[in-house]
Amino acid sequence: MYTPNLRLIDLEPKADDFLGDVEKGLNSASKYLSPKYCYDQIGSKYFDDICQANDYYLTRVERSIMKQIEMIKLDTAKPVAVVELGGASSTKFRELLKHLSHVQMYMPIDISRELLFSEAEALAKDLPDLQVKAVCADYQQLAQFPWQEHLTGMTPLLFFPGSTLGNLSMEDTHALLKICKAIVSDDGYMLLGADLLKDEQILVNAYSDSDRANERFNLNVLHRINRELEGNINVDQFRHDVRFNRAEKKIDINLVSLIDQTIQISGKDYHLKKDEPIYAESSRKFERSDIETLTSTHGLQPTEWWTDARDYYAVILLKSVPI
Ligand code: TRP
Repeated sequence: MYTPNLRLIDLEPKADDFLGDVEKGLNSASKYLSPKYCYDQIGSKYFDDICQANDYYLTRVERSIMKQIEMIKLDTAKPVAVVELGGASSTKFRELLKHLSHVQMYMPIDISRELLFSEAEALAKDLPDLQVKAVCADYQQLAQFPWQEHLTGMTPLLFFPGSTLGNLSMEDTHALLKICKAIVSDDGYMLLGADLLKDEQILVNAYSDSDRANERFNLNVLHRINRELEGNINVDQFRHDVRFNRAEKKIDINLVSLIDQTIQISGKDYHLKKDEPIYAESSRKFERSDIETLTSTHGLQPTEWWTDARDYYAVILLKSVPI
């Protein structure tokens, strides 16, 4: 059936080179494995378990803050276009929609083509008055995309939930905020989810939860190597390791080798010393002033903050201002 209010735009982001990236990461002086490889079908299911784990408050608290927001008031007479970074699943957008008026267009952007396009289609069918334009792309491709062509006559609201900004390196954070500014131009808005700095034990527990969901998720990348890359890794010889780095206000997640060992992947050997870490990911935690400094450098000014009663998490409305 033809869905007139739906457009699927495929920028064909280049496919992952799993083996190449694993080889590069394990041959490096400080070993690492990109966390994007944790999200195969099984890993994505484990990630859903993390979001439901008692100690992992982020998803739950963000959702409760979003529900409690009354109306998000934008100072504009034009209709609104919501652009969502990482918007393959339309769940968060459907909630956001209850707190906005005059939304004419929704542009979810994600790298997971299948989920993105199927959710976009379902949404377009549910909401025939909404223009849905789904963009399959990676972050790098967004700098070149002709945003203004798609957004003329509308006020953009860039939606970036999930505290994903905290998972990027400082360099990537600045690069992404620059792209955000280009998307919203000089008269748009951004709605950002950010996990706040808090007691160390609460943070550590969120990433090494008592349900062991984080551990299963992190170790899954090793199982995936065994499944897809002819690996012979004994996953029991690794542990999930979580540490808080106070100076840099971030959680560091590693896989640590329990013993001296040699593993084999697609015919090649990699040696690991006892206690040697394989770096997975960091999750930075923000103070309000960190967000203000970061965003205002890029011409995005926080204008409204919504938090929970314990100040665990913040949803921030930013207004684009000329730099
Ligand atoms: N975006 C998530 C976060 O920072 C990522 C995450 C949660 C994660 N638990 C993990 C990544 C365990 C690797 C391993 O909260």
